[in-house]
Amino acid sequence: MSGAGPTPISVAVVGTGYVGLTTGVCLAHLGHQVVCADVDERKVSMLRSGRIPIVEDGLAELMGDAVAAGRLSFELGTDPAVRAADVVFLCVPTPQDDDGSADLSYVRAAATEIGPILRPGAVVVNKSTVPVGSFHVVGDALGREDVHVVSNPEFLREGTAVHDFLHPDRVVIGARHDDAADLVEHLYAGLDAPVVRTDPASAETIKYAANGFLAMKISFVNSVAAMCEQVGADVVAVVAGIGSDRRIGPAFLNPGPGWGGSCFPKDSRALVSIAREHGYDFSLMRGVIDINEQQFDRMVRKITAAVDRYGHDRLTGVTIGALGLTFKAGTDDLRESPSLRILGELHRRGATVRAYDPTTAGELDPIQTERLSAFELCPTIGDATKGADVVVVLTEWPEFAALDLDATAAAMRGDAVVDCRNLLDPSAVRAAGLRYDGVGRS
Ligand SMILES: NC(=O)c1ccc[n+]([C@@H]2O[C@H](COP(=O)([O-])OP(=O)(O)OC[C@H]3O[C@@H](n4cnc5c(N)ncnc54)[C@H](O)[C@@H]3O)[C@@H](O)[C@H]2O)c1
Repeated sequence: MSGAGPTPISVAVVGTGYVGLTTGVCLAHLGHQVVCADVDERKVSMLRSGRIPIVEDGLAELMGDAVAAGRLSFELGTDPAVRAADVVFLCVPTPQDDDGSADLSYVRAAATEIGPILRPGAVVVNKSTVPVGSFHVVGDALGREDVHVVSNPEFLREGTAVHDFLHPDRVVIGARHDDAADLVEHLYAGLDAPVVRTDPASAETIKYAANGFLAMKISFVNSVAAMCEQVGADVVAVVAGIGSDRRIGPAFLNPGPGWGGSCFPKDSRALVSIAREHGYDFSLMRGVIDINEQQFDRMVRKITAAVDRYGHDRLTGVTIGALGLTFKAGTDDLRESPSLRILGELHRRGATVRAYDPTTAGELDPIQTERLSAFELCPTIGDATKGADVVVVLTEWPEFAALDLDATAAAMRGDAVVDCRNLLDPSAVRAAGLRYDGVGRS
């Protein structure tokens, strides 16, 4: 596909994180001329030396190819990348503000910075997830009559970001001017994907509504799992039964420790906040968030119950062998990870947490070090489970599904396994002489 696609366009990507780096690499792969810009010196110097700062399947290979072909480079700061570009993507963070709304300060700052240096007639594409109306915020901050703003929300999933970018279910383009929308659509011409062209407010709403709906599916199935435990049903069978209904579908129906990550928590709260600001009480979404909070507590209760000889509130002297720290498998992202919420609470109650995750077994960056400071990080699964009173599976990494149960049982001090991802076979766990508790099944 690379090089054989649409007429190349000169692109700058502002913000080279999970979304920006994937966008820049994939657009270069599609044949465009791309410069990725970031303010993080460490990140830019890593990228310039051919290393990627995140775990993302296939990204390093594609990046290497694009750099070698002369279509991709990296800059510290936005100038001169932006000055030379026909299209500028904003891929900067939109974290949660104190009141639950989206913090637009990074978007505003980036737009203010690039406004004066943009080429006449350039198009600015907002890929950051932003509340309805942010289109105007970007336009005002740019302060340029000749520059059109386009909303082009991103739907990639961390862990499969490259695949998702190159094989999207749809490309959403929200624009007021056809020429600007045409140019953005042209960037994606090498992809086989339907394009949804709409106005900016609708494009911005699509992104939040999509994330809200997905979070709702997970909260729904977690509630069904809680009910299964009460009535003696098996959620795995229930999910197979409902997921095969084409009106429902099987995706996002795996019960687990609760949803987390860099998007769902902030986007679900922002959705409630946007609705409230416009006079609508999005009570369904509030419920979805509440259920997720309860799910973290339910997991903590399961784990404390598994070692209940120590009492529910005091876990002093208890050692937890934790498998998985990232918010899901396939990524190194620890932001809002359910694992950290649950383990943090257990640690607060006095437990010693010995944790293994494939992405934290090596050298850590300063942010990872800070987020994980309460836990003893282990280089292998065996180190984390050795001497544990309870082994807890928190992330669905494939290597945990292949856990050597006999070796684990022999190395543990206790005999409890709490499987917050329903990853293990309960009968195999019991056959190894261990007690098993999953989510919505026994
Ligand atoms: N991570 C995801 O899975 C995902 C998926 C879809 C949409 N989004 C949305 O995309 C946006 C970016 O998310 P992310 O996960 O890539 O964030 P990230 O934190 O991984 O990356 C953002 C990058 O922007 C850089 N940056 C900040 N201000 C800058 C500036 N003025 N100039 C240049 N660089 C600047 C930061 O240094 C950082 O490298 C957010 O709005 C997010 O909600 C994320």
